[in-house]
Amino acid sequence: MNYIGSKYSLRDFLEAGILKNVNADCKVFCDVFAGTGAVGVHFKQKNFKIISNDIQYYAYCLNRALVGINRIPSFSGILDDLIPAAQSCDTIDTVLEYLNNLNGKSGFIYRNYCPGGTEGTEFKRQYFSDENGRRCDAIRMQIEEWWQANKLTEDEYFYLLASLIDAADRVANTASVYGAFLKHIKKSAMKPLQLKRLAIVESDEEHEIHNVNGQELVERLSCDVLYMDPPYNHRQYCANYHVLETIARYDDPDLKGVTGLRPQDDQKSDFCMKRRALPAFDNMVKKTSARYVFLSYNSEGIMGKDEILQTMGQYGQVDLMTRDYQRFRADVDRENRVYKADQVEEYLFCLNKQ
Ligand SMILES: C[S@@+](CC[C@H](N)C(=O)[O-])C[C@H]1O[C@@H](n2cnc3c(N)ncnc32)[C@H](O)[C@@H]1O
Repeated sequence: MNYIGSKYSLRDFLEAGILKNVNADCKVFCDVFAGTGAVGVHFKQKNFKIISNDIQYYAYCLNRALVGINRIPSFSGILDDLIPAAQSCDTIDTVLEYLNNLNGKSGFIYRNYCPGGTEGTEFKRQYFSDENGRRCDAIRMQIEEWWQANKLTEDEYFYLLASLIDAADRVANTASVYGAFLKHIKKSAMKPLQLKRLAIVESDEEHEIHNVNGQELVERLSCDVLYMDPPYNHRQYCANYHVLETIARYDDPDLKGVTGLRPQDDQKSDFCMKRRALPAFDNMVKKTSARYVFLSYNSEGIMGKDEILQTMGQYGQVDLMTRDYQRFRADVDRENRVYKADQVEEYLFCLNKQ
């Protein structure tokens, strides 16, 4: 998923920086601003017990699936419903094929985020093609129907939700985030929404996934390593990914304005606000019981490098690793996007707490 601040392409940099600093007896790794789960999945592969958290529910769903599931689910509760409708002999393929072949339904996503569903209303929106909006609704409703009928385990429910979030994002008619939609349906948004298999990392640890404000969570948690990857600028994730939040929750929110924003006051992050970011960060570092604290940040962030070093330095010895990072920015003209490459310095601050 093309997610703001994703660390997917920086996994090796993080692994090198983190593993070189922590003792071999460290077992519990907390990814408190987990986003797509890319970091948690990586350290799950390194045999840590992972505690993942994010304030957004779509991120919770992704982490609950990618980090929380340790074995490929069997979907035994629904297989009888699907055969002979589906042809595949692999269980997951059978379920995904069934969902991918459902007839579309005019549900919340179609009625609020598609041109056909919003035609003639105050705000005509085009986040998805009509066909994909209906596909998304049909799949989301079927997942919920199975879940309410106790036909899915919790792992299975979140496996399917995560797959739907990923699939919807691949066909979204946006420049990259959901702060705006494009005026014409772009090529990738014309492709049919298709659920795909998720890569599940096998593990014997019982990983924990949370969906709360990380500022409150840290003091309740016991972990060896606290990895912090907060937002680094004013762009709130709740505003930039509101459509994915609604697909995940499917809670019929009251939408506002041209972009159809859902209510989001309780999801606004202090880390996106100049006056609040540093005190919030200080408080988390102070309150955590973790022996090691790592912060991913970059040279364009709201908090300055020296302020961070000074803040962390109050609690122990700090080390800083840097790496130049090619960042791509969409130019103003969203319809004929031109991408400019920018060089940003990526930081990994390491604190050995005393
Ligand atoms: C830079 S992104 C993390 C990206 C992630 N490391 C990845 O690779 O996908 C920051 C994340 O912090 C979350 N967030 C912001 N404020 C938060 C808070 N107070 N508590 C928990 N999560 C928060 C956002 O929803 C967002 O997913």
